Amino acid sequence: MSFYARLAVPLLFALPTFAAPTLPPDLGPLTLFDELKALPSEWTKASGNASESKLNVKIGLKQSNIQGLEQRLLEVATPGNADYGNWLSKEEIDSYVAPSAVNVALVKTWLALYGITDVTSPTSDWLAFSAPVSTMEALLGTQYDFYTHPSRKGAIPRTTQYSVPLLLHDVIDLVTPTTAFYRNLAPQKSVAAPESKRRTKRQSCTGTTITPKCLYQLYNVTYTSKGSQTVATTELIEVGAVHSDYASFAKQFSISSTLADFTDVSVSGGSNPGTSADEGTLEGNLDTQYMGAIARTFVKNQFLALGPSGESDQDFEDELANLASYLTSTSSPPSVVSTSYGGEEQAFSSSYMTRVCNEFMKAGSAGISVFFSSGDGGVGGNGEPSCNNGFYPVWPAVCPYSTAVGGTMFSSGKEVVANAQTSSGTFTPGGGFSNTFSTPSYQSSQVSKYITYLNGKYNGLYNAKGRGFPDISLASVNYQIVDGGSVEGVLGTSASSPTWAALVSLLNDYRHSQGKATLGFLNPLLYSATTGLNDITSGSNSGCNSKGFSATTGWDPASGLGSINFGKFLSNV
Ligand SMILES: *[C@@H]1O[C@H](CO)[C@@H](O)[C@H](O)[C@H]1NC(C)=O
Ligand SMILES: *[C@@H]1O[C@H](CO)[C@@H](O)[C@H](O)[C@H]1NC(C)=O
Repeated sequence: MSFYARLAVPLLFALPTFAAPTLPPDLGPLTLFDELKALPSEWTKASGNASESKLNVKIGLKQSNIQGLEQRLLEVATPGNADYGNWLSKEEIDSYVAPSAVNVALVKTWLALYGITDVTSPTSDWLAFSAPVSTMEALLGTQYDFYTHPSRKGAIPRTTQYSVPLLLHDVIDLVTPTTAFYRNLAPQKSVAAPESKRRTKRQSCTGTTITPKCLYQLYNVTYTSKGSQTVATTELIEVGAVHSDYASFAKQFSISSTLADFTDVSVSGGSNPGTSADEGTLEGNLDTQYMGAIARTFVKNQFLALGPSGESDQDFEDELANLASYLTSTSSPPSVVSTSYGGEEQAFSSSYMTRVCNEFMKAGSAGISVFFSSGDGGVGGNGEPSCNNGFYPVWPAVCPYSTAVGGTMFSSGKEVVANAQTSSGTFTPGGGFSNTFSTPSYQSSQVSKYITYLNGKYNGLYNAKGRGFPDISLASVNYQIVDGGSVEGVLGTSASSPTWAALVSLLNDYRHSQGKATLGFLNPLLYSATTGLNDITSGSNSGCNSKGFSATTGWDPASGLGSINFGKFLSNV
């Protein structure tokens, strides 16, 4: 195969003078397909020969009619439309996304040329296989290296650009893992001391210490779950959730006397590492505990342990893709799912983000509400020191088919944009405008109002035509959880996202009792709601030595549309 070996020059365009290799049967020359312009900040090359590693590879095949699905989704997700809530069956979704048999065969032929024949199809529009890095280097005309980041253990094999045969450019959306770099947004422990159970009980809820009971008070949750829904949070990058911590939390903090345990669900070979988690259990415990406690008792509370898992394989980007394909392939998906992981948009290529966002579009079309936290470093992404080259939007919150959740706090009884000290800096919620996704129609009037309000401020640092995020917010500071057997106060949009998702599961439960479908893709409903949202108008999401975006009347990138008044919001559904 030396004929197809990596070309020693950058392949900006396939120059005819290079005698670029032509692959039988006429797949055309290997031609640059995807390129990361710069290494994401603080990532560096690590030592070692990446060629000797093995990779779990996925190829996203171009979906036949994704625009058709997008249009159909807007119809079924827009309140007032005759088809509102008529979510699509798996077969209907497949009719929009399944690639042609000819295209699938073409890609398999290409892979077979490199000896890759053991190929599976998790859904019709993905191919999966495992291969040594050296094979992938030949296949993609690239070189993988090990890269590492100060915030993570170990190094991962990645590349900054890759090629595929010209004829397959219209057949393939992406090959992964390749150019996606990821750094986790972890929840932080609050600086404020955790409250004891007795003190919390005696105090009236002012919002300075958050418990499930207090959230019900703050957000006027007047409804009691009938237990019809399945809800889910997610395990990624080997962060566990602990059953005994959950039981202890339930005993001390749950609203009803009993809280059924959460269920571990393995997706793509993942497993809940529990107490042996490399990356701790703070996030997993927070997510499972608040999802369960807010959704209430007999509700099925799933912890989706996402694979692939393995030592050099903390592959956030693959796990996200696996989450989406699980949601659209399983026979009994949760009606809401919340994920408190993300990374700076600059760290992912646009082809990767576009394709995985399309997967969340598929989940929304199936009637599933998909929530992501908006980040904890304000306009500075994961805590960048400087925004001279622009603000740092957070992926996947920027995906227009996710519902992005920001964070608030209570100051003298008033709900404002969160701004709190952590052991490692300041927490303010991520928010801004995507550089990849343009403003979707459901939010265009609110976003353009805010751009007008900015009146030129920050010009050049953000994309005025981008998808604005977050969509909504909720309390995010000093949540009481049980971690490692003891009560801890934690903060971050990692807290507000599962809580919002759990509240939506209560709305779904109510709708179920009325014989109605789930709320599914939520954003068109949120942006058209005329009651039930508490507008947040104070504070800003500072970051990287900038004040960030200020909250104001209506939607803003510091707080989205605001938090919820559940009792009033019920009248929208
Ligand atoms: C890396 O490993 C591959 C496969 O074992 C080998 O062919 C290659 O020469 C090695 N590269 C270096 C720089 O050692
Ligand atoms: C709480 O919701 C109920 C409807 O269930 C509404 O009548 C009431 O005004 C709401 N309370 C507040 C304080 O907004």
